[in-house]
Amino acid sequence: MARSNFCVCRFCIGQTRISASAQSHEPKKYTRPAGIGKAAVLVLPRRWSCRRASPPGACLINCTLREAVRILAPVPGAMYTIAHLSDLHIPPLPAMRPWHLASKRLLGLYSWHHKWKAEHRQEILDQLRAQLQVLRPDHICVTGDLTFTSHRKEVDQAFAWLESLSPPERISLVPGNHDAYVPGSLQYVRQRWARWMQDDDSGDQQFPYLHRRGPVDIIGLSSAIAVLTPRTVGRLGRQQLERLRRLIEERADEKRPRLLLLHHPPQDGATRWAKRLIDRRELQQLIEIQGFDLVLHGHLHKPVQASLAGPRGPTPVFGAASASARGQRYAPAHFHLFHVHRQGDTTNISVQHAHYNPAAGVFELQPEQAILDPVQG
Ligand SMILES: [Fe+2]
Repeated sequence: MARSNFCVCRFCIGQTRISASAQSHEPKKYTRPAGIGKAAVLVLPRRWSCRRASPPGACLINCTLREAVRILAPVPGAMYTIAHLSDLHIPPLPAMRPWHLASKRLLGLYSWHHKWKAEHRQEILDQLRAQLQVLRPDHICVTGDLTFTSHRKEVDQAFAWLESLSPPERISLVPGNHDAYVPGSLQYVRQRWARWMQDDDSGDQQFPYLHRRGPVDIIGLSSAIAVLTPRTVGRLGRQQLERLRRLIEERADEKRPRLLLLHHPPQDGATRWAKRLIDRRELQQLIEIQGFDLVLHGHLHKPVQASLAGPRGPTPVFGAASASARGQRYAPAHFHLFHVHRQGDTTNISVQHAHYNPAAGVFELQPEQAILDPVQG
C-alpha cells in the first residue's frame, strides 16, 4: 500500500484513497475547539484531500473536520464515558498438543474450525481498537469470553490485546464461560489478567471487585465456571453473592452511580436453559434491595436491553454482541458507549450503540438514547 495513495492516518488506517494532489499527509495534533468533547482532540492529517474511494462512511472521519467532530465527538455535556465490549473470542487458536485435546477442548477445536473461525475476525478487532483509540472513552468494561478454549496462549494473546487497547487503570474485566473452558484454566486467567480484576481497596484479585472510576463505582462479578459441553451455564455462588451484599451495604451512604459487570445475563428468559445463569434469582433479589444503576453483560452474541426490579424503579440491563463477529451466525460486532452526565446532585446515563458495518468495515455510532430516569444522589 503506497503511502502517497492511501490515507494512513489513525482513522482511515489505510482504507481511504487520497488524491494524487496531496502534498503532505503527515499527522499533526489538532487543538480542541471550545465546547467540543475531548474525543475531538484528533490527530489529523495536514491536508484534507481524502476522497471517498470506499462506500460512504467507510472513512470514519468522512474527510472533513466537521464530519469528524460530528461523528467522533462525545455527546456534549458528557461527563464520563464508558465503553462496553464483550465476547471478543480473539483469534487465532494456537496449535494444541495431544494432551491439551484430552478434554472438552477437542470439541472446542472442532467447533472453532468448522463454525466460528470465519465469524470472529482479527481485522474487526483491529478496527475496534483503532476506533476506541479515537473515541477515547474514559473507561472500558469487558464482560468476558476473550478466549475460545482458555488455552494459555489464548489467555496471553488476550492479555496483549487488552494491553494495547488502553492503560490498565482504564479497563475493568470479568471472565466468561469460555475463559473457564476446562477445569483449572480459570486459575491462570485470574493470575494473568489480574491487573484488570483487582479490587481498588484491598489490591487483591477477587470477586466481586470494586473499581472507583470517575463518578462511577464499577463492580465486577465472575460467573465463569467450567462445565461439560454443550452446557455454557454460569454461577456466582453463595460466597460471592454474600461478599457483594456486604460490599454494597458498607457503602450504602455513598450516592455514587453503581455499575455491575458479569458475563451471563441476570434477567429471566434471556437465554435457553443450558446457557443460563444458575443463581440469577439470588442476584435479582440483591439488585432489587441494594440497587444498581446499570448492569452490563455479554454471552448472548446479540445486543440486548432489559430491566430488573430495583429499589428506585427499573434497573437497566444491557448486553453487548460479540465485538469481533462478522455477523454470519449472530449479530455483527457491536459495542456500547455509556455517557454518565452529572448535573448538581443528579446523574443521567445515556447510551450509544456502535454496530459494525461489514460492507464498510467500520463501527458506526448510533444516536444517543437516555436509559435512566435521573438518579438523585
Ligand atoms: Fe459466553
